[in-house]
Amino acid sequence: MTDDPAARLAAMIRTIPDFPKPGIQFRDITTLLLDPAGLRLAVETMAARIAGPVDLVAGIEARGFVFAPALALHLNAGVLLIRKDGKLPGATIAEDYALEYGTDRITMHADGCAPGARVLLVDDLIATGGTARAAVRLIRKAGAVVDQAAFVIDLPDLGGAAALAGDGIAVHALTA
Ligand code: PRP
Ligand code: ADE
Repeated sequence: MTDDPAARLAAMIRTIPDFPKPGIQFRDITTLLLDPAGLRLAVETMAARIAGPVDLVAGIEARGFVFAPALALHLNAGVLLIRKDGKLPGATIAEDYALEYGTDRITMHADGCAPGARVLLVDDLIATGGTARAAVRLIRKAGAVVDQAAFVIDLPDLGGAAALAGDGIAVHALTA
């Protein structure tokens, strides 16, 4: 077996064609999560790439929630939940965005992070970057500092990681 984390992670992720719509090659992390080594390898590889202290790890609903708490434990940080519209009980701020397959709105609590807090954004995958870029706008609107983001999977042909880099974010992606 290879020692390369990218190759090991890629081997644990399956691709399901035509989900949720014809033409989408859906990258499914449930197989990675079923492997006893999968979550640990993903989180430890991410943690090793993060620069500097982090106050909050922001996970994007739903699949970002799998990785954010585990990474926060590694980094001795708190967890900020970025949720789909209508799920958070307190006063929220929101951003709309376009998906590879539709549109959506994400929210966070308006008081979810202290001004100047150093936030690391985490999700399972970046495709067009619409979700992650909206999350960055949201976190910045809240007055926090976000300058790095971690993803298990990058789909580089869709340009999201490059666009996010253009927003001033250091993008850490583990595999393609
Ligand atoms: C997926 C994925 C990312 C986003 C990436 O979530 O988990 O959050 O799409 O796509 P983008 O880079 O083109 O914005 P999805 O919206 O399918 O929600 P889910 O995690 O609730 O399934
Ligand atoms: N989110 C956006 N595009 C995706 C894809 N191809 N696979 C899994 N999640 C996604």
